[in-house]
Amino acid sequence: MNIIKEVTIKSPANIAFIKYWGQKDKKYILPFHDSFSMNLSNCYTTIQLSVHENPTVQELSIKEYKGKDYVKTEGPALHKVKDFYTRAKEFLHVENDFGFILYSKNSFPKKAGIASSASFFSALTLAFTEAFGEKLSQKQLSVLARLSGSGSACRSIPDGFSWWNKGNNSNSSYSVSIAPPSYWDLVDLVVIVTFDEKKISSSEGHQLATTSPFFSCRIKDVEKRLQQIKQAFLKKDFTTFGKLLEEDTISMHAVMMTQQPPLYFWSGATVELIKKTIALRGLGTEAYFTIDAGENVHIICQEKDEETVYTYFKNQEEVQEIIKNEPTIGARVIKSV
Ligand code: PMV
Repeated sequence: MNIIKEVTIKSPANIAFIKYWGQKDKKYILPFHDSFSMNLSNCYTTIQLSVHENPTVQELSIKEYKGKDYVKTEGPALHKVKDFYTRAKEFLHVENDFGFILYSKNSFPKKAGIASSASFFSALTLAFTEAFGEKLSQKQLSVLARLSGSGSACRSIPDGFSWWNKGNNSNSSYSVSIAPPSYWDLVDLVVIVTFDEKKISSSEGHQLATTSPFFSCRIKDVEKRLQQIKQAFLKKDFTTFGKLLEEDTISMHAVMMTQQPPLYFWSGATVELIKKTIALRGLGTEAYFTIDAGENVHIICQEKDEETVYTYFKNQEEVQEIIKNEPTIGARVIKSV
């Protein structure tokens, strides 16, 4: 084997407080509006990339969450990687070619509403950039991560709390950190009700968002909500912040459920946990729910309430596992030799 370089990258998933749903430009993955997220400390992808001097070598092996070994894949995941490799080459204007052997593992279940494509593609962005020997600014890395197809991957590049400015062309649509991880001790308890993989990907769902009669209402509301949540974030007003992030979740899922064909990501367990979050607030503990494209529920609270919230949800019959997350840094090179 003629390995010429080895790179290890770690990159987090992120949870959006104001979500991205629908694409204004499908080729360049431009959103209709800004979105805003936090990087998750215990939900991340680690990629090991060996650069091979033979360009025809293109391999991907994946170790599933709780899986024992890496399994080589030839399926759609490898095709997406190959497509992104071509896109990265174009973006970086590089002539040289190389083969790749990739090993990828997740610290959390994939395709279950926990942004596994964001952590994977942001890690891959940094891996290919490093392998080509390129040094990109954070802005350019974020642009390239967005072009992977998983737009939200661009929010996993900067540290802590990440704001994706929609921009009006490919070069102006990227994410920046608006606060470091230490800014606010928020916690995301990822409450897992199922390990099953969803049947429809976000990428497919985005394409049909505008068929919902509620899409235009969301676009109008979301601009106002973005301003309001930024103010609440700057003031660390958790009550307003929580109310707004829940509103945004419902707004996005209302669009999903009314687009054609409709997308129902929620199960009965999801709805039960929504109700139980509201009940917990009734008992005097502040916690708010948010849900991505999947059944599982993210509960956002402050560190001071983490134990109470954790114990409450752990004892619910729907719950299989809980992954505790605090805000963390974005994608990083762990090793490059
Ligand atoms: O980046 P994509 O194509 O995986 O879409 C992600 C969309 C949501 O997770 C549902 C919302 C968001 O902003 O993270």
